[in-house]
Amino acid sequence: MTLNEIAKKMCAGGKGILAADESTGTIAKRFKSINVENIEKNRLIFRQTLFNSSAMKDFIGGVILFDETIRQKTSLGISIPELISKHGAVPGIKVDKGAKSLAGSSDETVTEGLDGLRERLREYYDLGARFTKWRAVYKISNKFPSAQSIKSNAHALARYAALVQEAKMVPIVEPEVLMDGSHNIDKCYQVTTDVLNECYNELEIHKVDLKGTVLKPNMIIPGSECEIKSSAEEIARKTLDCLKKNVPAEVPGIAFLSGGQSEIESSKNLNEINKINDTNFLITFSYGRGLQASALKEFGKNQENIENIQKAFNHRAKMNGLSSKGEWSEELEKEFAA
Ligand code: 13P
Repeated sequence: MTLNEIAKKMCAGGKGILAADESTGTIAKRFKSINVENIEKNRLIFRQTLFNSSAMKDFIGGVILFDETIRQKTSLGISIPELISKHGAVPGIKVDKGAKSLAGSSDETVTEGLDGLRERLREYYDLGARFTKWRAVYKISNKFPSAQSIKSNAHALARYAALVQEAKMVPIVEPEVLMDGSHNIDKCYQVTTDVLNECYNELEIHKVDLKGTVLKPNMIIPGSECEIKSSAEEIARKTLDCLKKNVPAEVPGIAFLSGGQSEIESSKNLNEINKINDTNFLITFSYGRGLQASALKEFGKNQENIENIQKAFNHRAKMNGLSSKGEWSEELEKEFAA
């Protein structure tokens, strides 16, 4: 398959991406919230349960894994990447080493992980990965993000993407403008514009073939502490407008992060965006919390109740699958809750 075909497989046909690549530190926070011990066995059980759900076949085009997970064997006798491929989804891997304090602007971060990346990519390919993820993080405040943070993160993202394509995998380019803060929606629009512009500048300099990439952006939304709330219609209009103006048309797929929105909000907003999508971009989800929050709660209630965990996950995957086609509705959520 060409990189373009892989990118489309991840995002097309009412499917999206399951971001199950929480680092051991991040999954520790998620497990703490449900009182589950953060040990390898529990991490494997939870993830294997999701990856073996019936919704995988119809609604999940790709799964992003963490280093530990891509090496694990399931109790079904096959490896995690084999389990994912069996359901028709593409296995992927997070390859960045996290957002680290940026020298010269220490309240901001630059994402690290380029050293030795070429060798690590070769190994991940052999383990079954066909796409990768690298996440850059930008904070909004009166003085942030700085030009330094925008430039250094874009440069790293582009060097990462070039190496990934060399290794015959699809890079997910994830520049995440955080929703923390009291800024309004227009500030988010402006910062996201600056960030996307710099990213595509650098991707061009590093000769990345955009047809073989997937963009994973934030939606254009007000800060979580902003007093002025926006309707899903306004979020959709501004998000699509920002993407149309700043993302080159060759990019085949755009898969949003949920970024701290609730499960319902992230489905509703994605749905509104797709209702008005008049571009050729395949617009879908690449959710972590937006897909897993309810399933995680069920896992916390009873780790052995696979049926309930999968029921919760299947529902969210289906709702987001519908949103990726603009066919989601609140009634469907209510029917499920009843
Ligand atoms: P959330 O959807 O929980 O924001 O996670 C997506 C992700 O992969 C962040 O890198």
